[in-house]
Amino acid sequence: MDEFEAQFDATIAADQRVEPRDWMPEAYRRTLIRQIAQHAHSEIIGMQPEGNWILRAPSLRRKSILLAKVQDEAGHGMYLYAAAETLGVDREELTEKLIDGKQKYSSIFNYPTLSYADIGVIGWLVDGAAICNQVPLCRCSYGPYARAMIRICKEESFHQRQGYELLLAMVNGTDRQREMVQESVNRFWWPSLMMFGPPDDDSPNSAQSMEWGIKRHTNDELRQRFVDMSVPQAKALGVTFPDPELVWNEERQAHDYGEPDWDEFKAVIAGSGPANAQRVAHRRRAHENGAWVREAARAYAEKQDARKAVAA
Ligand SMILES: [Fe+2]
Ligand SMILES: [Fe+2]
Repeated sequence: MDEFEAQFDATIAADQRVEPRDWMPEAYRRTLIRQIAQHAHSEIIGMQPEGNWILRAPSLRRKSILLAKVQDEAGHGMYLYAAAETLGVDREELTEKLIDGKQKYSSIFNYPTLSYADIGVIGWLVDGAAICNQVPLCRCSYGPYARAMIRICKEESFHQRQGYELLLAMVNGTDRQREMVQESVNRFWWPSLMMFGPPDDDSPNSAQSMEWGIKRHTNDELRQRFVDMSVPQAKALGVTFPDPELVWNEERQAHDYGEPDWDEFKAVIAGSGPANAQRVAHRRRAHENGAWVREAARAYAEKQDARKAVAA
């Protein structure tokens, strides 16, 4: 055992990848399963707030962009469930935990989408925050997760650009459209900052995840990066963020910003956000409605196996 552990430590120290065949500490495996599962669930649940607008897209072009984006998120969920399976859990089990409320997903998807401007703002801010979080995960110490993230990040940057492009079209439109964009930014700014998780001094598992090379930057570092990146983009769009404390700090060469409402964050994580019950109920219904597909696939596989056995 000591020999295996030394090998694992050496792999982490050399910044090499841990692969499914390698020995790994049980706590490392459990942490990864929890993180990858939460990430996969977020991709799948994240399809709902935007899927809500597919039938009401304002043009064929917007509809095909939105369809492609929502479909990408389904793909991200699939890569990630597959990465989690290399750690010895199965997708069925993870799905059960999600619909029983035993595993979490990103708090952002518990907010409703109230106008088409939300599609742009989600692409710009929510996918933008996801990119800040996810680019460092391309260098995560666990090989299958890191490789899944490389592909996901490429698609996320398309998501962010389509959102920004939609907002550019809207802010160059009518006064009413500009108001819609600002109203949407007002609702999504603070929940986007919360996507980076609690402040560093209230994030008990971060230090261990950094030591293991799962996490590369702290929550507050990533949040700062996101704020600094978003301010000039907001300026270009002609919108403001609903934070009177947001100001450039010459000394730090970074923006100061106000404190998100962490009580709201905790409440949403704990299940009492505006749309938690609806999201999970919808996912459960979709899972139950798909039972016949899983049964048919299983019956088909059994029939194929039986045929092979006869032929052999
Ligand atoms: Fe995604
Ligand atoms: Fe995305």
